[in-house]
Amino acid sequence: MASIVNTQLSDGTFFGLGHPMLDVSTHVSNEFLQRLKEIFTNGNYHLNYNAGGSTQNTLRTINWLLDRPNITVCMGCIGNDESGKILEEQMENCLYQKTSDSPTATCLILITEQARSMITDLGAANRFTIDYLNKSENWLYVERAKLFYIPGYFVRTCPEAVFKLARHAANTKKIFALNLSAEYICQKFGDILMQLLPFIDFLFGNEQEVKCFAQYQMKNNTNDDILPIARELQKLLIKNTKTCVIVTHGADPIILASNHGVKVFAVKRLSKIVDTIGCGDAFVGGFLAYWSLDGSIDECINAACYCAYECLSQTECQFTNKPLFNQTERFCELEDSC
Ligand SMILES: Nc1ncnc2c1ncn2[C@@H]1O[C@H](COP(=O)(O)OP(=O)(O)OP(=O)(O)O)[C@@H](O)[C@H]1O
Ligand SMILES: [Mg+2]
Repeated sequence: MASIVNTQLSDGTFFGLGHPMLDVSTHVSNEFLQRLKEIFTNGNYHLNYNAGGSTQNTLRTINWLLDRPNITVCMGCIGNDESGKILEEQMENCLYQKTSDSPTATCLILITEQARSMITDLGAANRFTIDYLNKSENWLYVERAKLFYIPGYFVRTCPEAVFKLARHAANTKKIFALNLSAEYICQKFGDILMQLLPFIDFLFGNEQEVKCFAQYQMKNNTNDDILPIARELQKLLIKNTKTCVIVTHGADPIILASNHGVKVFAVKRLSKIVDTIGCGDAFVGGFLAYWSLDGSIDECINAACYCAYECLSQTECQFTNKPLFNQTERFCELEDSC
């Protein structure tokens, strides 16, 4: 298999705005979960520190698949602390706003053989302000970018910045991609997402999120079939004739709704899943990376599935090996088209 090499794309093509977060993870026993406080008191655990958060996971996937560290730019807010320094060391091309009022966002991940528990403190990531985006030296990066990606999580933090990028993308015929991210975002901030729909080219979400959004914003029932919901949702993406809704459902089939109708893709199964953290973020990264190579939407879905597959084969959304991908290897199969 060949890796993807493309020299046509310029640095900073992809621009992500979100919550820069430091993942702090450690392996623990089941009993430990009963005695959670111990980790903070005796400190006998080896902690791993990795740049995390949905946006950074997706951007890192793009960097990895395209083998181009400078092709992405990441914007968000961090604290003036050690965690922030680690993020700056680990992430390429990060435009971090800094605040002394809150610590850098962290996600404590406790991993047992069977499961993982995660506790997130958004801290400084929630303090992002639009004036940072508006600074002329930062706006230059926006003008240079060709694709913007924002997870739904971020719309609660600074909706003005999200709309500013969405409008910029619409006015300059660039791509704006959004992820619904979580059911509580669809429920509590669904009205903001609804207002964003006319600016969106690619809308990602898992089945539960899409159903939740449809329940609160489109007056569907939660037990309605997902296919017509995806089709109806895509009709609300009126930016142009190429918009898509992409619905994932773990190991279950992916649904792609576009102007051409609805396609259903079966996902390649893994013999062993190491970790599910960030597989949705990796999926988006693979899709967007392949789109930038002028891949067809079906090819983008296959690349997305490859990245999710690789992510599921290792711990967190960290890619340690070089990508080995070509389109002849199928990580999903077209099952149905209507
Ligand atoms: N158990 C699995 N087996 C095979 N592939 C999987 C599995 N779980 C996830 N995937 C792959 O990852 C993609 C995204 O998964 P999923 O629908 O769970 O995303 P998500 O719920 O948004 O995840 P996240 O919590 O990371 O946001 C799937 O479409 C599939 O390609
Ligand atoms: Mg997700």
